[in-house]
Amino acid sequence: MLKFPDGFIWGTATAAYQIEGGHDADGRGPSIWDTFSHTPNKIFKNQNGDVACDHYHRYPEDVAIMGDLGLNAYRFSISWSRVLPDGTGAANPKGLDFYSKLVDALLARNIRPFITLYHWDLPQALEDRAGWGVRSTAEAFGEYAALMGRTLGDRVKDWITLNEPLASTTAGYVFGIHAPGKMYPKLAFQVSHHLNLAHGLAVKALRATVPGSRVGITEVSMPVYPASEADRDAAERYDGFVNRWYWDPPFKGSYPADVLERLGPIAPEVADGDLKTIHQPLDFFGHNSYSRSVVRDDPESALLGATPVPQPGKPHTAMNWEVYPDHLYDALMRITRDYGAPEIYITENGSAYPDTVVDGAVEDPARTNYLRQHLAAAHRAIGDGAKLRGYFCWSLLDNFEWSYGYSKRFGLVYVDYPTQKRIVKASGRFYADVARHNRLP
Ligand code: FCB
Repeated sequence: MLKFPDGFIWGTATAAYQIEGGHDADGRGPSIWDTFSHTPNKIFKNQNGDVACDHYHRYPEDVAIMGDLGLNAYRFSISWSRVLPDGTGAANPKGLDFYSKLVDALLARNIRPFITLYHWDLPQALEDRAGWGVRSTAEAFGEYAALMGRTLGDRVKDWITLNEPLASTTAGYVFGIHAPGKMYPKLAFQVSHHLNLAHGLAVKALRATVPGSRVGITEVSMPVYPASEADRDAAERYDGFVNRWYWDPPFKGSYPADVLERLGPIAPEVADGDLKTIHQPLDFFGHNSYSRSVVRDDPESALLGATPVPQPGKPHTAMNWEVYPDHLYDALMRITRDYGAPEIYITENGSAYPDTVVDGAVEDPARTNYLRQHLAAAHRAIGDGAKLRGYFCWSLLDNFEWSYGYSKRFGLVYVDYPTQKRIVKASGRFYADVARHNRLP
């Protein structure tokens, strides 16, 4: 029996575009994900988030499910273009009202809201004005943060500026598999700098508008392990590009020198004072974690000099991500050691498996097992000094998994998309039991 510290936060996480639907309801403007998912051949079976889990209309039922499961927190994101259809300027009162009602419904069930301001869905109106490629988008983000702080800050104290800048940058601007679907590394690194700037401006805006605010950023970690002794330098280089490049600016106020050197001419333009703006005091490190990378030295990979090595024969989820629970322990200890040990929340962790409904029920032992192993790893890190304060399982509901569309199910709650019926999976009941008793059996 593994007991968690008193007051531990047990939640689930979602993101606006993945669950809300209501894509043109009540004055919402389009985001880059509306545009991208409506572009042919970008998404599995050309699916899109127009309806998704219809959470925009069904949020009372979804909040009731969380309440019945005994969860005490919920991390969700705001659709920027729902509240500011043009990205800036006039707010959409009905959009603000939706989030206000959602927050009230959560509080009525004693569920503490954690809000993510940016989970990848830039308003299309801003993309049309060069999006994250220009500094003015970071400034617009600061204004949007202030609007949300003024609207919800009387009731919501826990705020996350950005979700996984690594993914926004590489999937969206290097590999082109996420919105806005660009493949232009020089732009990608400039975008990553503007995202950092946006983060810094948003922290300032939240501090100014939310009394008693607690602000952090969510970074994904991809713990990197060398394939052999000879690959240690390659692992260090790779780690620089996937982890340190994103973690260092908000937590240390600098870009890692080794990565800057390798970037050379494609390094971003950084204006005087930017790093100071980016390096704001933070209350917590939000940490998303699913798997690890094993890499080897690769002189042919000009930029990184390293390549991931597949791990056949090891257990994998339906995303083809290796199940390796120790990565979570290693990441939590590394954040504690190298990043000033701020409080930590696991803001996402979970697994996709191909679920089926039998006699109205979903038995998903593989997902329960994933959860159990990762919670045990997190517990071990707490014992060794990590200031881990909470865990948010990805995800509450099966949802629109970006370029995979609806083909990957991560939910603790199954969604039958044609009828929108929700069925709590066996893993959801297991997680509820853990949360209720604050311990892992
Ligand atoms: C994370 C994303 C989240 C979801 C999970 C599976 O990288 O933040 O939206 O797609 O992966």
